[in-house]
Amino acid sequence: MDGRTLFRAFRDGGGGNGMSELVRLTGVTKVYQGGITGALNGMSVTVERGEFTAIMGPSGSGKSTMLNLVAGLDRPTSGTIAVGGTDLAKFSEAGLARFRRDHIGFVFQFFHLLPNLTALENVLIPAQLKGNPAPERARSLIDQLGITEIADRYPARLSGGQQQRVAIARALINSPTLLLADEPTGALDTHSGEQVMELLGQLHRDGQTILLVTHDAKLATRHAARVISVMDGKIVDDARLESPERAPSEVIRVRGEETSR
Ligand SMILES: Nc1ncnc2c1ncn2[C@@H]1O[C@H](COP(=O)(O)OP(=O)(O)OP(=O)(O)O)[C@@H](O)[C@H]1O
Ligand SMILES: [Mg+2]
Repeated sequence: MDGRTLFRAFRDGGGGNGMSELVRLTGVTKVYQGGITGALNGMSVTVERGEFTAIMGPSGSGKSTMLNLVAGLDRPTSGTIAVGGTDLAKFSEAGLARFRRDHIGFVFQFFHLLPNLTALENVLIPAQLKGNPAPERARSLIDQLGITEIADRYPARLSGGQQQRVAIARALINSPTLLLADEPTGALDTHSGEQVMELLGQLHRDGQTILLVTHDAKLATRHAARVISVMDGKIVDDARLESPERAPSEVIRVRGEETSR
């Protein structure tokens, strides 16, 4: 299946797996070469379109492995991973690369910006790979993420929080079906981390499906609507938060806005 067929499957609601299902892992295991125990040991879970899900668990529990498999950056040892109703095993390596380019946005802990490109040029990379340079969209994403003034700066001259916002804009430039973030606040100070999580929350409210790995329980419960706990490569808890926890100051601010309307 090529990227275009897959895109049709996405638009049609995921190939008969239910209208709103976006990701399905079924009995997924991953044993790395030389690994004694599996990094994933039979993981089954579904993620609905529009969900903001946090994945939590101790170091080495398999969180990054899970995210990398969903992104099509690596393949499982057994089990299946379907995104938009398509089994990723059907893709060749080139097909997986197209799938990532067209459907996945990935944000990393250490940003991974190219140092010899400006912020704006970094944001444009995925669009250029797609043969669809989109300078206006890049500018508007940069504005939306509140980093207009640093668009023409090189990464070395940006703070961690600014670099992460550039990386988020880059992850969003091709309007990915799924945004994956592996500890995006892990290298940031508390304030910048909170800002990045606020941005992810806003993207979620605008309809973006997000799978986030974090060590920060407070940030996870405050911003995500679902928390999956992973241990030893297995899901040990899966909680949908009916009303996400809010910091008191935030609740009061929201109430104030409501009453003033
Ligand atoms: N490329 C690799 N080759 C071999 N083993 C790996 C590789 N990547 C991860 N592992 C092992 O797989 C297990 C799960 O690793 P993973 O990176 O998924 O954990 P994690 O939950 O993301 O941990 P952390 O919170 O420290 O980032 C660990 O035991 C790790 O050592
Ligand atoms: Mg990890």
